[in-house]
Amino acid sequence: MGDAGYDEVAEAYDAWVDQQPDRTLLDLIGPVAGLEVLSLACGQGRDARMVARAGATVTGVDTSAKLVDLARRHEAGAALGIRYLLGDAQTLDEVPDASFDGVVCHMALMDIPDLGATLGTVRRVLRPHGWFVCSINHPCFKPPRAGELLDHRDGSVQRVVGQYFTEGEVPAPQRSHDALPPTTHHRTLSTYLNGLADAGLSLVAAAEPAGAADRPVWHSVPCLLYLRCAAVPR
Ligand SMILES: C[S@@+](CC[C@H](N)C(=O)[O-])C[C@H]1O[C@@H](n2cnc3c(N)ncnc32)[C@H](O)[C@@H]1O
Repeated sequence: MGDAGYDEVAEAYDAWVDQQPDRTLLDLIGPVAGLEVLSLACGQGRDARMVARAGATVTGVDTSAKLVDLARRHEAGAALGIRYLLGDAQTLDEVPDASFDGVVCHMALMDIPDLGATLGTVRRVLRPHGWFVCSINHPCFKPPRAGELLDHRDGSVQRVVGQYFTEGEVPAPQRSHDALPPTTHHRTLSTYLNGLADAGLSLVAAAEPAGAADRPVWHSVPCLLYLRCAAVPR
């Protein structure tokens, strides 16, 4: 099972990642008390813990043995009843069909090579009334080539983007970041939206929060894209 490069950076990722509740993610998820929720590609468990604190029974799955180990250590330090499994989001062989009321995949679809297989798995493990909430680097504003332009007229910073149509494995946007693997997967917005539709996941809501990061440009251009989908009855 490949770890998408996260075993190499697991300790650094654990130290770097923001542990604060993500309001946009939690608002899109909505009430979860009493629900069974899968945190897909859970990493060291930050979104699994957010959802467990909101009252859900949570299972976290990730392909990085080191991140799953760190997630279990967080659980051992402050128990929330989260179960962690080592598994591949593209197949999830260890998870039976229709096991969950909701699936959350926070900041991870870009790290998984086969989008169609992953979204098909999400639909398979959802119950008929189930929902899927994901967040990704915004595909329109974080393509393989991007930079920032200072407008000397008013001092504002603008985002300049290129290579939007270059899909596949590409260098990560934060190339020198030691808490992230060196590569990621870029896809166009239509690839994501069509992938969801093909898998039987119907878009219900989207969010593009401003100020998602501390660089000024992200206050006028969205850095992240969040989507909520409903399982389409079969
Ligand atoms: C940026 S991290 C996000 C982790 C966590 N959701 C969070 O927000 O902190 C991306 C995660 O995707 C996981 N991943 C990559 N490929 C995977 C796969 N095929 N199956 C399951 N997890 C995968 C990585 O191991 C990593 O934990």
